[in-house]
Order: sequence, then structure tokens, then C-alpha cells
Amino acid sequence: MKKRFFIALILLSNILFAGGLYAQTVWLDQLDLSAATQGYGTPRSNKTVDGRPFTIAGKTYERGFGSHAESLLTIILDGKATLFTALVGIDDEVKGQRPAAEFVINGDGKQLWRSGVMHLGDEARPCSVKLDGVKKLELVVTDGGNGNYYDHVDWVDAKFETTGVTTFKTYNPVSSEVYILTPKPSASPKITGAKVFGVRPGSPFQFMATATGDRPMTFSAVNLPKGLKMDPKTGVITGKLTQTGTYNVVLKAKNAKGVAERKFRIVCGDRIALTPPMGWNSWNCFAQEVSADRVKRAANAMVSSGLINHGWTYINIDDFWENNRDSRDQSLRGKFRDEAGNIVPNSRFTDMKGLADYVHGLGLKIGLYSSPGPWTCGGCAGSYGYEKQDAESYAKWGFDYLKYDWCSYGNVIDGLPENDPSKVSSLSYKGGNVLETAVKPFKVMGDLLRQQPRDIVFSVCQYGMSDVWKWGDSVNGNCWRTTNDITDTWTSVKNIALNQDKSAPYAKPGNWNDPDMLVVGHVGWGNPHPSKLKPDEQYLHISLWSLFAAPLLIGCDMEKLDDFTLNLLTNDEVIDVNQDPLGKQATCLQTMGDLRIYVKELEDGSRAVGFCNFGLDVVDISYKDFAKLGIKGQNVVRDLWRQKDIAKIDSQTSDLKIKVPVHGVVLYKFSQVK
Ligand code: GAL
Repeated sequence: MKKRFFIALILLSNILFAGGLYAQTVWLDQLDLSAATQGYGTPRSNKTVDGRPFTIAGKTYERGFGSHAESLLTIILDGKATLFTALVGIDDEVKGQRPAAEFVINGDGKQLWRSGVMHLGDEARPCSVKLDGVKKLELVVTDGGNGNYYDHVDWVDAKFETTGVTTFKTYNPVSSEVYILTPKPSASPKITGAKVFGVRPGSPFQFMATATGDRPMTFSAVNLPKGLKMDPKTGVITGKLTQTGTYNVVLKAKNAKGVAERKFRIVCGDRIALTPPMGWNSWNCFAQEVSADRVKRAANAMVSSGLINHGWTYINIDDFWENNRDSRDQSLRGKFRDEAGNIVPNSRFTDMKGLADYVHGLGLKIGLYSSPGPWTCGGCAGSYGYEKQDAESYAKWGFDYLKYDWCSYGNVIDGLPENDPSKVSSLSYKGGNVLETAVKPFKVMGDLLRQQPRDIVFSVCQYGMSDVWKWGDSVNGNCWRTTNDITDTWTSVKNIALNQDKSAPYAKPGNWNDPDMLVVGHVGWGNPHPSKLKPDEQYLHISLWSLFAAPLLIGCDMEKLDDFTLNLLTNDEVIDVNQDPLGKQATCLQTMGDLRIYVKELEDGSRAVGFCNFGLDVVDISYKDFAKLGIKGQNVVRDLWRQKDIAKIDSQTSDLKIKVPVHGVVLYKFSQVK
């Protein structure tokens, strides 16, 4: 009897369970949290983002989800949860910092709960959200309005009451599909790269005409001014111009399949970098591990990958070619300067001139890095007090580009200029927000670079303080960072992108706003990994940086370029948008929900338009507001990534179907039919 009763009970409970009548608890930490996206690190179960036990305002917790703003976890509930409860807060592990973040819960597109902005030390806030019927739940953490630095955020004791189900699926609304849009270049020659080049009278001239197509290829130039000659094998033009003026040249490239030609303008005068610099920089990949050997290998890879044929030129050494004040790595230890005050490179860079010659010999150019303070950001020797010697060394070695990074200059303002390591900290923004002190050190170096017998592109790096775009030109700056350092996260790329409009009016040939380097390929600041940006995010990143007329500096390991990354970096029609001689920067002319439409005027009167989806839903629209984008009359619409004309529109009457993936882009060019 007893036995039968128990069997009946088990059967009944199974029926109730299957019918979903039994409440069941599902802990958040049991779900697959890897689908979450976040601004730093990786999502963690039962640990903070840094891998520690949770502590909020002094109390510890065992279970939960450790993340970092900006963060999003999407959970498919399908109406099978009734309640979500949790405690939320900022983890004590970031003591000494000033994080701020807000926790938000959305259900089926509606906000169900928000925590209010939380700070370090705030007691965990309880949340209890009824979920009956909710199909899709989003756990979001925003940056609290002060950027996402140190926003280590915890959802602790977080759990669902369910209608009986024992788990839920999580998912990432941004697609992981890798797809290649850039068509392979044809076998016949096609000239690529900049259409205009600036040089100062008397400076050594080096410009490489580039083309795609089968090799061998022979280059020539019609109307090359006196003083210049072209190497027909490499396309490299060298020599010297003494007369200022504009020289209209025609570049030609010939192979077994045919001949291509393109107009090319040489402007000899005051201004250089007439199109945004394109190249590679060591920082995002190697950081403090950079060496002459790695720089040479990057230069070789620029050639062997074929990137050189698309206009990529500069090979820039970032921090750590100098000796360091406190590294344990002996290869970075040594005299900072010789008796005459000349900078002494560290033992990884035994022959700076030899290195520059090597890079030039490949048809490329070479850059390096310093700081106006006594120390660079990485604690290596900076230029403070030795600016003249340094500018002269760079020129003597044959360098073409200097990135000059604020860092410890704040200490100079504080009256701590001595080379005493114990007295200075590396990074200080102090003084950078006061116009006079912000300008001063860059003016010193900018003027000194102008006095050198070669053209050196001057890249001002002070993260956009004191509206640098308003005065960068006055210190002979050719480009200037408008932002703090980029990382390979959507949060970073998105926030930088959304912040560029205010500086846009100041972009012009010779003056470029720099939203920092490209985070595609293998990046990782000494610990390289494939970029965490999803494929669509990478298309958006490259499209936007092209629209922004930004310097394009590849930040990845050049020896690990994969087909997808090469497809991003070798689309000549996209590069042409970036290199357009008019030198205008795109701005956002229309916003439709999360769709932002960026428009860049081009020299030939056409417009490059980026339909950029910053949201989490696919945008699928019939677009007709052409007048808002300055598009008039009949236009041919060209898809630049696919290099294909896709429609003819009448700006007044046509509708254009536009479908933009989540965090993706559609990049079109509208050319008026005359
Ligand atoms: C940062 C700079 C980075 C990199 C680094 C080197 O201040 O923004 O791009 O140059 O210093 O230490």
C-alpha cells in the first residue's frame, strides 16, 4: 500500500513538473554567461571580473555573475520564469578608484527595473522583478555617466523562479558570422592609395605609387617635376623639390594584362600629411615587448601580405624603444642619455638609423614615440629638457613620424621635473585641461620638428584635453588623439565613435582627428588574441574610421593577418573614402532610433554614407530622407564594401531598401548623375 502511494506520488509530481506547475529555482550563475558582452575582461560565474570572491560594501557573496560595464546578458525566458531576484553592486576590488554604474533590467524591450547610479561602497541593492509572460530578458549595466573605467559590477544571489524549467538559454544578439565582402582585386593593374601628397621644399621626398594586379608590374609617372625620379620597379618616387607649387602628375602601372593610370597631385609647400597617415603601430599588439626585430618583421609583413599595395605606409614604434626607469627586464635598462644629452635607445634597438634605412628600403616609412614629460606613459625616458636633441636625433636617424604623448608632463607642471623616479608618477592629466599648459610642450616639439631637414608627421597624443582639435594645427600637429586609449571591445569602439562629431569641423588636409588605432586582427597589448569585436563590429569600426578621415594605424600582429582582417584592410574603395583629398570628416546627419547615418563629402562631389546600427535589433527600412543627407537629384548608389553599384535613385521620389545587421554597417556612395 505504502509502496503504491509513493509510486503515485512520484507520477503525480512528474506530471506537475512536466506541466510546469512546479516552481523551480534557476540560479543565474548556472546559465551560460559567455554570451554576455562587456566593456572589459570576460564574464565570470561566481567570481568578480578579476576572478575574486564577490564583496560589496564589505559583505561577501558566494553566487552570482561578475561583469564589467558596459555589459549585456540576454536570456530567453519564453514566458517560463515568474520572478527574478538579485542583489547588485560595485565590487570592493576596485578600492581607490571611482567607478559608477547602473544596473537595468529590460523585458521584451521594456524597462522593468533600474538600480539608479551606484558607486563604490554603496550597499548591494535588492531587485525583485515579476516576469510573468516575459520572453526575452536583458540584464544590462551602463557606465553610470562617467565612462566605464573600473566598473566591476556584480549580480549576486541572482536567481529565477521558473514554471518548472531548469535552465534558460542565453544568447548574444550580435552575430558571430565571419563573412568577406571585399572582392579580390583583378589581375589587371589598378592604382590605389593617396591621390595627393604634400612635401616641404628641400625635404627628402619619398612616396610610393601603389597598385593592385599581377606582378611583375612597371610604374611610370608623367609630368614628374624636376628633382624627382621614380623607380619603375617599385613605384617609389624620391628626390627633392625646391620650388613650392602644385604639380599635376599622372601615375601609370603596367603589367601583362594592361595599363592603368591615375591623376596624382604633389603639393610642395608648408603642409604635409595631406591625407590621413596609414600604417601600423606596435602598441596595441606588442606594448612593452616591442623590439627592432619585431618592427622589421612587421614591415616585412606589410609587404608580404600585400597591404603595401593598398597605400599602407608607416611602421611606427610606440613606447619602449627607450630605456625604462623601473622595468625588471634587463633589455630595457641602461643609460637614458649620453653625456651630450642625446637619447640612448634600449638594447633591443641597437641601430635606429639602420632600422629606418631598412624600412625605407621596403618603400615604407617609419615612426617613433616620446613624451614631453621626463617619462613616457610606460616609464621610459621622455623628452623633457632634451627636446632639441631628440628632434635632431629623430631626423638624423631618418624618422618620418613622431607620436608625442602627454603622460608625465603633468608632473612638470607640478614642479617635479627632475629625473628622479621616486618623485614622479607616469600618468597625470593635470594641466592638460588648462589651455596654456596644454599647448606649451607640443608647441616646443612641433616647432623643433619643423626646423629639421626632413618632414616628420607630428602626432599629438593627449587624449583630447583642452579641445586639442582647436589648436593642434597651431603647434604644427598633423593629427591628434581625441580620446583615451581604445580597446577591442564594443563599448570602447562605440563610445569613441559617438564622441567624434564635435571635433569634425577641424579636420582638413594636414590636420586629422585621431580616434586611436584600429583594433582588428590579433591585438592585445603584449598578450595578443583575436580582436573581441564581432565581425559586424569590425566592419563598422573600419567604415567609421574611414568616414572620420582618421589616421588608420593597424594595431595587430602583422604576422597573423587572416583573410577576414585582410578583407577589412584592403578594400580600396573604403580606403579611398578615408584618403579622399577634400579631407572632410563625416558627421552624423540623422538618427533613427539606434541607426546613425554618417555622411562624408568627397572631392568629386559624391557622398559616402554610413548607415550605422548601434542597436541590438536588425535595422530593415525603406529609406527616403535623402535631402537630410545633402543628396540631390538622380544618384547612382554604390555599395563600397562589395564594390558594386546597387541602385539608381531619385532623391525626391525613391525608396532605398536598407538592411543593417546588429552593430553593423552599410556603407554606400551616392554619386549624382550629371
Ligand atoms: C598611452 C597612449 C597609448 C600608448 C601608451 C604607451 O598614453 O595613449 O596609445 O602610446 O601610452 O605607453
